[in-house]
Amino acid sequence: MADILLEANGVTKRFGGLVAVNQASITVEKGKITGLIGPNGAGKTTFFNLISGFMNPDEGDIIYKGQRINGMRPSNICKLGMTRTFQIVKPFPELSVLENVMIGAFNNTANTARARQKALDVLELVEYSEFASISAGALPVAGRKRVEVAKALATEPELLLLDEVLAGLTPTEMWGMIEVLGKVRDAGISIVIVEHVMAVIMSLCDHIVVINNGENIASGSPQEISDNPAVLEAYLGADFNANEVMG
Ligand SMILES: Nc1ncnc2c1ncn2[C@@H]1O[C@H](COP(=O)(O)OP(=O)(O)OP(=O)(O)O)[C@@H](O)[C@H]1O
Ligand SMILES: [Mg+2]
Repeated sequence: MADILLEANGVTKRFGGLVAVNQASITVEKGKITGLIGPNGAGKTTFFNLISGFMNPDEGDIIYKGQRINGMRPSNICKLGMTRTFQIVKPFPELSVLENVMIGAFNNTANTARARQKALDVLELVEYSEFASISAGALPVAGRKRVEVAKALATEPELLLLDEVLAGLTPTEMWGMIEVLGKVRDAGISIVIVEHVMAVIMSLCDHIVVINNGENIASGSPQEISDNPAVLEAYLGADFNANEVMG
């Protein structure tokens, strides 16, 4: 049987009258890269916030490694081995790249030398060691995203939730990051990735979950998702005509 790391079932979050996440579910298998996709405003970031403890769901269960984690603080969820990155990355600009990554490492140790070593190891894994001493405020978008991933990895996660870490990158920078994410998976860390660039999702993901208006509309392999008319319709709008688009 597949080894399930995370299972969220029937998760709902309301903002006043708006149901941002509506009975949504996701199952994450250990060792896999799972894609969470959907149009702008579909509820992806809110779903991440609910899973990682930054918001409390109004309904539903979030089960991580067999334990119900609803209502747990993000820092405690992180200690259980689940860490997320943010869509808007804000490194401490006056600190160096290394120091920013060390902040993640302090999740597991209060020892500065150990945190420093962990940060150096992670920077090596993400192929960013040469920038260790640069101040984070001087980095372009691609660099800030790399530091965000490194900081998350420094917490030593088993499960990494990535919210648009490829957004705003040039194609070259993007494929560099994709290579890094492949290495992260090969290091035994499972990943859930929110991403808009379909080519990336299709090449990187083992399994994909699609949401629209906060609801699950499809899940399956990249091939199954790309063949699914409901997915195309969600992206292209209700007036979608398959023959016109495909023909
Ligand atoms: N804190 C909040 N208060 C009120 N409404 C919110 C809040 N956060 C998100 N929303 C709304 O919930 C819906 C889902 O937003 P969310 O950011 O989760 O979508 P998303 O799928 O991540 O979109 P994008 O692809 O643009 O990042 C949107 O309509 C958004 O305006
Ligand atoms: Mg978002």
